[in-house]
Amino acid sequence: MSEKKDILIVGIETSCDETAVAVVRNGREIVANVVASQIESHKRFGGVVPEIASRHHVEQITIVLEEAMKKANISFAEIDAIAVTEGPGLVGALLIGVNAAKALSFVHNIPLVSVHHIAGHIYANRLVKELTFPLIALVVSGGHTELVYMKEHGSYEVIGETRDDAAGEAYDKVARQLNLPYPGGPHIDRLAHEGTPSLDLPRAWLEKDSYDFSFSGLKSAVINVLHNATQRGEEIKHEDLAASFQESIIEVLVTKTKKAAEEHKVKQVLLAGGVAANKGLRAALEKEFNSSSIELVIPPLSLCTDNAAMIAAAGTIEFNKGKRAGLDLNGTPGLQLG
Ligand code: KG4
Ligand code: ZN
Repeated sequence: MSEKKDILIVGIETSCDETAVAVVRNGREIVANVVASQIESHKRFGGVVPEIASRHHVEQITIVLEEAMKKANISFAEIDAIAVTEGPGLVGALLIGVNAAKALSFVHNIPLVSVHHIAGHIYANRLVKELTFPLIALVVSGGHTELVYMKEHGSYEVIGETRDDAAGEAYDKVARQLNLPYPGGPHIDRLAHEGTPSLDLPRAWLEKDSYDFSFSGLKSAVINVLHNATQRGEEIKHEDLAASFQESIIEVLVTKTKKAAEEHKVKQVLLAGGVAANKGLRAALEKEFNSSSIELVIPPLSLCTDNAAMIAAAGTIEFNKGKRAGLDLNGTPGLQLG
């Protein structure tokens, strides 16, 4: 009997401010994972500037691609498919990755597979641990806050999502009020650990059975606290404000995730997206699931923020299901999951 051949997939990710290329074996093993971050270029504008992002992707994509292939020490003749982020994201940024992927697919005659960015974030977990179904993924990033139910590989049911700001967006907006640099999430996380959650900030639980989230009220409450203190000539300890804000966000995220996991009788809970790097959130989830029969999986920090290994991992599932994209593939900024 012949041995089953390894599946080698090249992943490409350019949806926001990271130009990334990776090679992944059998959807689980990272062979190479190269990320060129543009954060320094966007910092002085306090957020990602789409036009600048596109320009950086154009400059970086071939360099990052060459470096990844060199690190993997693999030729395109050995590659089974090119997986690329189709959306959601910035249209001009997405197009750079999609066009690079199409060119590689055409020149080397390799199948093309399209991937949803959030599916990629979820599949970052499979680079750490094999997935067992059913499972719930808590996706928390700069653009998304979602609870996703998966009954099998490649099947995504969004059971809850934010009605306004994403968790990361709330972090970044509050950070800006505290004059912290972009992206503010890691700075708030650091400050929060130096303070105590002494301020009473709201938690938006929404309707009783809803798994949806809302963070704009909390963001406004933080702004009000700062504004009122300035008017009264009082000083608010930023560390305490950060700790109180972080406690409010984490309490809602963890409580809704636990409830969803129990109600859906899942075997695993996955954490995904840039905010998954948050130390407080990681610790709170670990504490909550510590004595539970539900297994909690949390990727290392390098796989929480945008990268292409996660795109190759999710792409492997699509490839194995026989799904292929044509050379007419486009970037889709508002692409829906599932
Ligand atoms: O997933 P990601 O890299 O990009 C998107 O797809 O949005 O997430 C970026 C977001 C930013 O809002 C950033 O502030 C947030 O993740 N973030 C954090 C932390 N590290 C990154 N938020 C809270 N605590 C952190 N330690
Ligand atoms: Zn992302």
